Amino acid sequence: MGAKRNILITGGAGFIGSHVVRLFVKKYPEYRIVNLDLLTYAGNLENLKDVEGEPNYTFVRGDICDYEQMVELFRKYDIDGVIHLAAESHVDRSIKDPFTFARTNVMGTLSLLQAAKVCWEGNYEGKLFYHISTDEVYGALEFDDTLFTEQTKYAPHSPYSASKASSDHFVRAYHDTYGMPTIVTNCSNNYGPYQFPEKLIPLFINNIRKGKSLPVYGRGENVRDWLYVEDHARAIDTIFHRGKVAKTYNIGGFNEWRNIDLIKVVIKTVDRLLGNEEGHSLHLITYVTDRLGHDARYAIDSTKLKEELGWEPSLQFEEGIEKTVKWYLENEAWLDNITSGAYERYYEEQYSNR
Ligand code: NAD
Ligand code: DAU
Repeated sequence: MGAKRNILITGGAGFIGSHVVRLFVKKYPEYRIVNLDLLTYAGNLENLKDVEGEPNYTFVRGDICDYEQMVELFRKYDIDGVIHLAAESHVDRSIKDPFTFARTNVMGTLSLLQAAKVCWEGNYEGKLFYHISTDEVYGALEFDDTLFTEQTKYAPHSPYSASKASSDHFVRAYHDTYGMPTIVTNCSNNYGPYQFPEKLIPLFINNIRKGKSLPVYGRGENVRDWLYVEDHARAIDTIFHRGKVAKTYNIGGFNEWRNIDLIKVVIKTVDRLLGNEEGHSLHLITYVTDRLGHDARYAIDSTKLKEELGWEPSLQFEEGIEKTVKWYLENEAWLDNITSGAYERYYEEQYSNR
């Protein structure tokens, strides 16, 4: 048994957060894991059914922007570590509604930082505020072999990445100004179970199974670097426990794919697993108007994390995609519940009087 810890994980009902909560609840029975989540459209407690009864797990519905509630939460549970994942996370939504992104990602992070500062009262021994960020803060790479390193200058383009960059700066400011122990990590595109079907891979799996068109932005030539979500959760565990305070670590899969090539792998895998003949769903590909300001290419150099802390991705992409597609096809009710909006209505009824 290790030391007791009281860890606040924000955004734990979302995609990555649910994998982090599951890993910590199962691996560290001696910790108390408090999952704070607002249950926005992206938060879904179905993602955590297998841990909800565990004695070391507590769920609290709340808003990171509610400073008073955050102070109360820190005091009530004597929080000594924060893993902050709560955010608005979808680039297309940020283009339509940037204010929500500034509110949650910037003001929400600031309110959480200030609550930690006030409750920790300058006694930072054994404390850590770990902020989960994105490679998108570095801007876009050319179609060459350059990679984002921890030294790459911030150059965000979308309202989403601008809001994440701003929150990263606030986290570092709390270290530099008040001495709060902080860590920031910047990760590439995650994929795997429980991802909201607005993101490329689950959206396309869902559309293929329904015979709906697959909207490829622009010419499908943009490049992303894909990492299986459980590998990200393992990296977060490693860094939370052994990362150096005030440092930044890049997390990535060394796994670049042009969107159109990735989409063809997804189509092939879904068709095979559904028993369709090869090429059956290719006709669903539909080229549509490009995303505004669409970043050409992201690719992460995670050498530092490997050399300093020994982390590297465990899963080959082919294996990860196979597991992912299988999971969605075996959990069609999860997808149907989300696409019908049923799960959001359920939470409104459950929590509206609390
Ligand atoms: P997600 O959208 O699936 O989940 C976000 C969660 O935050 C949801 O459960 C939502 O209910 C919650 N939330 C939103 N606003 C809140 C608020 N005001 N108060 C409390 N909870 C709130 O996101 P994700 O893809 O799991 O991403 C998690 C984090 O990781 C984000 O900070 C994101 O920027 C970062 N990130 C994501 C990726 C990726 O590929 N998905 C890659 C790198 C970094
Ligand atoms: O790089 C990390 C980021 O990855 C995270 O910080 C974000 O939270 C996460 O959403 C993701 O951002 P992207 O914009 O890269 O992911 P998305 O799944 O939206 O899109 C992946 C690529 O596919 C991107 O180039 C846009 C394209 N795309 C996306 C959708 C939803 C399409 O061509 N068609 C689509 O319908």
